[in-house]
Amino acid sequence: MHTETKKRLKRTHTCGDLQAQHEGQEVVLMGWVHRRRDHGGLIFIDLRDRYGLTQIVFNPQESEDMHELASTLGTEYVIAVKGIVRPRPEGMVNPNMQTGEIEVLAKDLKVLNPSKTPPFLIDDDSGAKEDLQLKYRYLDLRRPPLQQAILCRHKVYQAVRGFLDNDGFIEIETPILMKSTPEGARDYLVPSRNFKGKFYALPQSPQTYKQILMISGFDKYYQIAKCFRDEDLRADRQPEFTQIDIEMSFVEPEDIFDMVERMMVYIFKEVLGRAIDRPFPRLSYDEAMAQYGTDRPDIRFDMPLIDISHVARRCDFRVFTQVLEGGGHIKGIKVSGGASLSRKQIDALAEEMKPFGAKGLSTIKRSDTGIDSSLAKFFSQEDLEEIVRTFDAQPGDVCLIVADQPHIVASSLSFLRTKLAQERGLIPENAFQHCWITQFPLLEYDEDRDRYVAAHHPFTAPRQEDIELLATQPEKAKAKAYDLVLNGHEIAGGSIRIHTSEIQNRMFRALGIDEHEAKEKFGFLLDAFEYGAPPHGGIAFGFDRLVMILAGKTSIRDVIAFPKTTSASSLMDDSPSKVSEEQLKELGLCLRPEIG
Ligand code: AMO
Repeated sequence: MHTETKKRLKRTHTCGDLQAQHEGQEVVLMGWVHRRRDHGGLIFIDLRDRYGLTQIVFNPQESEDMHELASTLGTEYVIAVKGIVRPRPEGMVNPNMQTGEIEVLAKDLKVLNPSKTPPFLIDDDSGAKEDLQLKYRYLDLRRPPLQQAILCRHKVYQAVRGFLDNDGFIEIETPILMKSTPEGARDYLVPSRNFKGKFYALPQSPQTYKQILMISGFDKYYQIAKCFRDEDLRADRQPEFTQIDIEMSFVEPEDIFDMVERMMVYIFKEVLGRAIDRPFPRLSYDEAMAQYGTDRPDIRFDMPLIDISHVARRCDFRVFTQVLEGGGHIKGIKVSGGASLSRKQIDALAEEMKPFGAKGLSTIKRSDTGIDSSLAKFFSQEDLEEIVRTFDAQPGDVCLIVADQPHIVASSLSFLRTKLAQERGLIPENAFQHCWITQFPLLEYDEDRDRYVAAHHPFTAPRQEDIELLATQPEKAKAKAYDLVLNGHEIAGGSIRIHTSEIQNRMFRALGIDEHEAKEKFGFLLDAFEYGAPPHGGIAFGFDRLVMILAGKTSIRDVIAFPKTTSASSLMDDSPSKVSEEQLKELGLCLRPEIG
């Protein structure tokens, strides 16, 4: 080993620090060997840490031993290098690199730890499959795009805490082991050792606790809280995720909107240095569904859904008239310049809409000479012209039309709208467009369970004028609930809460939860309501989704240090995993024979 290495080296700079102004200084860098190149006696190492890359040069004339040691360095070895900063030779300056003006001539080298050859490239693009990346997440996290995403997440935490603290909110932690109150998603359960046969649940959200904190008088609460939901996953859902959870007393929706908008302005400024406009536009749930077919519309581009039922009513097409007789909708979107879409392309779009239940896609193209439509034989020329006018279609445009039950028309056209906007470059890059969705239905009918379920959660207050509907026509009642949508993602949801046990009991009745069940599940909350519960309301942000958008990613997995796969497993530590017979026994559990 090289003699000087016995002395402890202390890091003086990071691999992103050194520039021309440091020339001549003796420095000590520590990091990972990103790449090694041997060039006619000289050995070049790109040394990497989370701050950047620095080029190190090993010259045999400095020390044969050190040079020999350098020649054994593999990628991802952890090393310490002492050396002198010097300008790079002419022609070798790299303006794309933070440290591209300089290099460090090594005087001393210490291998702090060797490394096996990593299974994929530690680079912007690793070239590896996601499963492999997740198994070796610690290596994946060394890649610059993930490091930047995790750094962005850190900045968002700081901005949120800074804003809320300054606005008078108190951060309070609530339990992770709590009572199971299944509603919404499935609970994750934790067996109790002290009370065999009994279980805790992990919180789906801190909802009940934050309401109880309002009863305790903490009128402005927040928490960056872990939530757990055993539900089907997709790119923007994880079984374990983080919320910015907020609750306030003596408020109406306007107060929540104002606070949230100020917070978003602050976060965008702090994290991206961007100014965003407020107030955010608002749409009622009914308006959003009618105009965009979804309650999380991406309003960075226009392309609304247009209803042509009034004209379609007059046509000879049985499919259309039957749909209308059955309470269905006939709607479409206009694709500007879309008349050039070929039959094959349209058929491919229709195929992609099938999973939403759409059985067909009709077209009306407007050209300079007239109208060309798959519906021509069923509509009079005047009616086709009226449809074209309704869409405001210009020569070169195509209108794509779906006739079906309202939810099928909505979901399939909403899908089509987003897909075409993405493909045709209609979504402005780098734009951030928030909108509030308000006046959600209070309840939804669940066919499987044959009863109403809360559209948001059972603590959401109905509008004052709709309270009586709870007993008579619950499906007509609207909630004091709101979502915040950003670029087509639901990033937050909240509501004004019920704060009296009388209305809460009426709500439970509408949900088919009898007094006994309500007492067993939520008795503690109903009891608490009896001791001076203030009017209150709040909201919770999907923190991971917010960071995903701010970091410019398309999956929340990219902004979570240790995410799970879509089947809720962790490939790195191989969880969930079996436990020993001993552990099961201690908990009073035994597995069903078919599980083994
Ligand atoms: P909600 O269920 O709407 O409301 O959740 C709030 C926000 O959390 C995010 N979110 C998720 N993010 C990642 N993975 C998931 N599986 C997941 N599920 C939800 C969404 C959503 O808008 N207690 C109420 C809030 C309240 O009323 O104050 C609640 O949890 O961005």
